[in-house]
Parts: sequence; structure tokens; C-alpha cells
Amino acid sequence: MDWDSSARAWIEAQGTHGDFSRRRVLDVPMLDRVHAFAPRALLDLGCGEGRFCRLLADKVETLVGLDPSKALLCRARELGGAQFVHGRAEALPFERATFDMVVSYLSLLDIEGIEVALDEVKRVLRPGGRFLFANLTGFATASDIKSGGWRVQPDGARKIIVRRYLEPHAVKAEWKGITVTNWHRPLSFYMTHLLERGMTLTHFDEPAVPEPADLKEQAYNNAPYQLIMEWQAPG
Ligand SMILES: C[S@@+](CC[C@H](N)C(=O)[O-])C[C@H]1O[C@@H](n2cnc3c(N)ncnc32)[C@H](O)[C@@H]1O
Repeated sequence: MDWDSSARAWIEAQGTHGDFSRRRVLDVPMLDRVHAFAPRALLDLGCGEGRFCRLLADKVETLVGLDPSKALLCRARELGGAQFVHGRAEALPFERATFDMVVSYLSLLDIEGIEVALDEVKRVLRPGGRFLFANLTGFATASDIKSGGWRVQPDGARKIIVRRYLEPHAVKAEWKGITVTNWHRPLSFYMTHLLERGMTLTHFDEPAVPEPADLKEQAYNNAPYQLIMEWQAPG
């Protein structure tokens, strides 16, 4: 399983405070949403080595991280902060209506059986509970932006090529010694599947790097890269 074989490189890439996207872009708005809803029971779906759980450790009464990678879970358990459970989003080992909030922090694009996983998220959420996720945009997963694939034109302009945007497909992603399969899906895929499950959109954001410190940080804000959505379960 590729997340197990990339676990060492992933742990190193995250360091203590997370990689650039997490530290500079996503952590603040993701934590704001959790704090605003103040869940008593929260599931971090695809928790990896558990960093987001550690950020929430003394804020949520019942905090559970779930991941299929034994190597990442081993690291999460070493560092603590939550109950860490082995499992997959497609078959959650929890009773229905167990959680007030389910969070997926950049893990939806890693989940192969996404339709079943969305059924499972709805099942384990209590009525009115929230599904909060950060994901790469379809623009990013249908292009090579993630591996720094900008093409510099003779006039200095930087261009990126987007392919097969409307067609869900697997993408091999490689960076910093990490090699995994991601699943590209257009925005309409997620919107349609969540609406079909009777979920209601309560928040949407495409967060930017706040006050970019240099041209590299500024460049991050030039193209759609990451989004945050929060959906309310019916009932
Ligand atoms: C990009 S990492 C994100 C980890 C963590 N959420 C974070 O932000 O540091 C994606 C995670 O999704 C997990 N994953 C892959 N397939 C999964 C599945 N079917 N169900 C749940 N998690 C899965 C991987 O093992 C990995 O830990």
C-alpha cells in the first residue's frame, strides 16, 4: 500500500508543524471551523500521522483519528493526542450517528471508493452534524501544478496544462520522496454526490497565503489550488 511505503518521507515532509500548505494556508481556517462548531465528538478521516488531531487534542472531548496506513498510525500513537483507529473511509468501524463532526484534511483525493466513503460519512454523523474538508481543487489534480509543473514562457509568463478535468481518474503523485495515487475528481463530482445525500453546504473557501512574504508565496495565490467546504448532515 503506497501510503505505508511513503510513510517515512511523509513524516519527514510534515515535520512538527506541517508542510507549507498546512502551516501557512489551511490550518487557521480549518481550526476556525472546528472551533466555531465546537463538536463534542470528532472523527479525523485519513488522519495520517495525526498532526491535526494533536492540534485539537485538548479542545474536543472525543477525538478519533482513522487511517489505513499502519506506519502512519504507529507514528500518530507515539505522539498521542487522540484515539487512533486502523480502518478505511469506505467501511468505518463506528455506529451510526457517532460523531458531531467528520474532518477530512487533504485526504478525500486519496480515497479510492469515494462514493461509499461519503455514504459512510453521512452514516456516522449525527443529524445536523458537519462534514468539514480541505481538498486539492480539480484544477490542481488535473494539472501537474503539485509537482511544480509550471512552464516558463519566453516572455516570462508561467503556464500550466490542465487535462481531462471533467473525467474522474487516478493520478500518480510524486514529491519529496513520497509516491502515492491521488484521485482526480472535478468540483461537480463532490457537489453532486454530497447534494444527492441530502447534505447542505454551510461554508466554502479557497484560502490564499495571507500576506505573502516573497514571490514564491505570492505565486501560490496565482492559481486555484486548495478549497475548504463544510456540509451539514440532514435531520
Ligand atoms: C495527504 S495524507 C493527509 C494526512 C492528514 N490528514 C494530514 O493532513 O496530515 C492522506 C491520508 O489519507 C489516507 N488514506 C488513503 N486512503 C484512505 C482511505 N481509503 N480511507 C481513509 N484514509 C485514507 C492515507 O493513508 C493518508 O494518511
